[in-house]
Amino acid sequence: MTSNAKILCFAGSARRDSLNKKLVRIAMQAAKEAGAEVTFIDLKDFDLPIYNGDLESESGLPEAAIKLKETFLAHNGLLMACPEYNSSVTGLWKNAIDWVSRPAAGEAPLNCFSGKVAAIMSATPGQLGGLRGLVHVRAILENIQVMVLPEQLAVPMAAAAFSEDGTKLVDEKKNATARKIGEKLAHVCHKLQAE
Ligand SMILES: Cc1cc2nc3c(=O)[nH]c(=O)nc-3n(C[C@H](O)[C@H](O)[C@H](O)COP(=O)(O)O)c2cc1C
Repeated sequence: MTSNAKILCFAGSARRDSLNKKLVRIAMQAAKEAGAEVTFIDLKDFDLPIYNGDLESESGLPEAAIKLKETFLAHNGLLMACPEYNSSVTGLWKNAIDWVSRPAAGEAPLNCFSGKVAAIMSATPGQLGGLRGLVHVRAILENIQVMVLPEQLAVPMAAAAFSEDGTKLVDEKKNATARKIGEKLAHVCHKLQAE
């Protein structure tokens, strides 16, 4: 059976060797194996200025924001791994969400988010793995009408948590959890879309 799940995958980090990019790719692979169509994007490829209401009033949405919105609209699921910066979300992630949340003329508010399902994870070199940041990620997404799966994963001590090629978490239980999150998201997106 063809899956209706179309999942957009990204990390809240632009860093080349981002731990969170590795983590999101592990869950993404599992979502793909569960039948979902998956797309990985790197937020560093979207040249978004810091959101400024004057800029939006004067020039509308920047090209990169329009492109990112179109990408969001083409998917019904969001799979994200967000680093924790100073106990919260990264500016890169929040700025992207802020731009994508801006409606075009005549567009329904929160069109890019409403009805979507998300799964969230984080990885940090610290002891808590970004758990405090995930509380904020979840609250922000739920407030903009995204359904966030209860399952989540925070990977602590993440500098040493990945296999050498970066495609697995060394801890088998954690690796299985990351994969289960990807699979569950694929199944929920498929089921909701089919209704
Ligand atoms: C400005 C800044 C603030 C940070 N604050 C935290 C923090 O509150 N908790 C934490 O566990 N790690 C924190 N870190 C460390 C990041 O978790 C670490 O740099 C991580 O590798 C970032 O994710 P990435 O590898 O995906 O880029 C911070 C890093 C930066 C640059």
